[in-house]
This record gives sequence, structure tokens and C-alpha cells, in this order.
Amino acid sequence: MHITFCCADTRPEPWLEGLRNALPGATVSEWHPGDAQADHAVVWSPPQQFLDEQPGLRGLFNIGAGVDALLRLKLPPDTKVVRLDDAGMSVQMAEYVCHAVIRHFREFDGYEADMAEGRWSFRKPRSRAEFPVGVMGLGVLGERVARALRQFEFPVHGWSRSARVVEGVHGHVGVAEFDGFLNACRVLVNLLPLTPDTRDILNRHTLSRLQRGGYLINVARGAHLVDEDLLALLDSGHLAGATLDVFRTEPLPREHAFWGQPKIVLTPHTSARTLREESIAQIAGKIQAMERGEPIAGVVDPVRGY
Ligand code: NAP
Ligand code: GLV
Repeated sequence: MHITFCCADTRPEPWLEGLRNALPGATVSEWHPGDAQADHAVVWSPPQQFLDEQPGLRGLFNIGAGVDALLRLKLPPDTKVVRLDDAGMSVQMAEYVCHAVIRHFREFDGYEADMAEGRWSFRKPRSRAEFPVGVMGLGVLGERVARALRQFEFPVHGWSRSARVVEGVHGHVGVAEFDGFLNACRVLVNLLPLTPDTRDILNRHTLSRLQRGGYLINVARGAHLVDEDLLALLDSGHLAGATLDVFRTEPLPREHAFWGQPKIVLTPHTSARTLREESIAQIAGKIQAMERGEPIAGVVDPVRGY
């Protein structure tokens, strides 16, 4: 069995060594133009030439959860596209989102500013009931985040395409229940995949539906958010702030208005990182299961887009 590796912005050596250890007997190599046909590929943002030269792949294993960049390419018709299925990401995402929600709710930004100026001051405790949190997307990451927020006793609402039951979380389903979901929330967390249906979904119309003093946490993809609409709603005071981990252009250009906006907390696409050891173990296990003819989790539906 031949596994080829083609991942942009990733040092190949530790991945090749890890895959060789996890799949003894397999030939594992970094892809170069003109290479022979492989059986499976481990990829991140491969060039179109790679896919054109590898039409007979059985599995195309993406080393991330989101497959939007991959699905923009022309894929071999009979190849299964497989996304990372948690692999240590959901706990990181839960940490990140809970941190952002709690930092805002408890006004820790204000306390940090006070302390930096030598001011010993207290703020009036806020009521959790006045900070209902909505999680867009109740998949592998969104469900874990919703459960984690419930641990802190926030009222939590979830929105998904099909009905999802998560204990303690008020579920809303599909386009018909989207406005009701937004109206019910003050803090909004985006964990949707980027698809034609979800591109630009965080815009003036939808964000205006959040309760006044709303707060946005975007940890999915930059193209979900219409940047100018967020800035306008922050200026008008309808939104109190935002924490953004993902951007239309990454790295975020130096001249972008987000850099100078004090109500926005920025991080460099780091909320849930790909963990190499966990990912190699998961991908190797799935390759072995596929070779035995067994079903595997995380196979992408190219029509649905995730
Ligand atoms: P997932 O398991 O595929 O879950 C996607 C969820 O979104 C599902 O609940 C799905 O509904 C829902 N959904 C999809 N389209 C929808 C629509 N049109 N309307 C309403 N709900 C819709 O994905 P995941 O593993 O949780 O990851 C989510 C995204 O997080 C990834 O696609 C990626 O973009 C992003 N991500 C970001 C980072 C980071 O570091 N910032 C790291 C990892 C992932 P159903 O349940 O009905 O299918
Ligand atoms: C990161 O953004 C991922 O999709 O895994």
C-alpha cells in the first residue's frame, strides 16, 4: 500500500515518520510531481496538479476538520474525502469558546484595564440568565462546546440543519427556525462548516437579531462573516464586542480595520489546532478500516459540502 503526503505549510518529516510507524508495511512518501499513483493521500490545501495526477486514490485524508478549501478543487470522482473527526480538537475548541464567553460575561477585560492602571474596583455581578449563548452548528465541535457552556450554567441554544438532541441545550433546526434562534441569543458562537449555504451568514441582518449588547465569537471560517457589517454593529452599539479567530484573508492584513478596533479580540486561527499524534493515529486507523472494507466516520458528502 502506498500513502502519499501533500500538505501545505506543514513540515513533512514528523508526519512521514509517524505514518510509517502507524502503518508498518506501507510505503509512505512526500508527493512530488510525476510520482506514481498512490492508494491513499494525507493532504492539506494540495494543488490541483496533485489531484489531477492522482485520480485513483481510494481515500483523501484532510488534516483538518474543515474541507471547504479542498472542495473548491476538482476532486477525483471515486475518491472518499475524509475530514478529521475531533482528534483532540473539540476540547481545545471548548476551552477557547468558554474562555471567550467567560472573559466577556465576567468583564475580565475591564478588570485587566483597571488593574493595569492601579485601580481597585468592583463591577456589579451580571445575571447568567441575561447571557443566553447560541451555538451555530452542533457537529463534532459545536456539540462539545455547547455541553461545556452548560457546565457553567449559561442558557444554551443550538442551531443545526437536522435535529440534534444535546442534553440541556435548546435545539433549533434549519432555515425556518433560524430567526427564532438568533432572537433567543445574546452571545453567538459560529461553528458551521463553510458551504454555499453558510457563506456570509454572519451579516447585518442576522447579527442585528441578537439581543442588544450582543457578542460574536467566530471560530469557524472568515468567509462566514461580512466584516463591514460587524464593524457597523459595533459602532452603533448593538453589539458589545467580538472574539475572532478566523479571517477572510489569513494572516489578517496589517491594514485591516479589525486590528484597530478595541472591542474585538483577535487570535491567529489557533482555537483548535491539528494535533499530529492524534491525527496520525486516527488517519492510520481509518486507512486500515477502509482496507478491510469497514465503514469509517468523517466521510464528507461533497453535495452537502461538509
Ligand atoms: P461538523 O461535525 O461537520 O458539524 C457541522 C455542524 O453544522 C452540523 O451540526 C451541521 O448540521 C451544521 N450545519 C451545516 N450546514 C448547516 C446549515 N446550512 N444550517 C444549519 N446548520 C448547518 O463540523 P465540526 O467538526 O464541528 O467543525 C465545524 C467547523 O469548524 C469546520 O468546518 C471548520 O470550518 C471549523 N474549524 C475551525 C477550527 C479553528 O481552529 N478555528 C478548527 C477546526 C474546525 P447537521 O448536524 O444537521 O449535519
Ligand atoms: C481548522 O481550521 C480545521 O478546519 O481543522
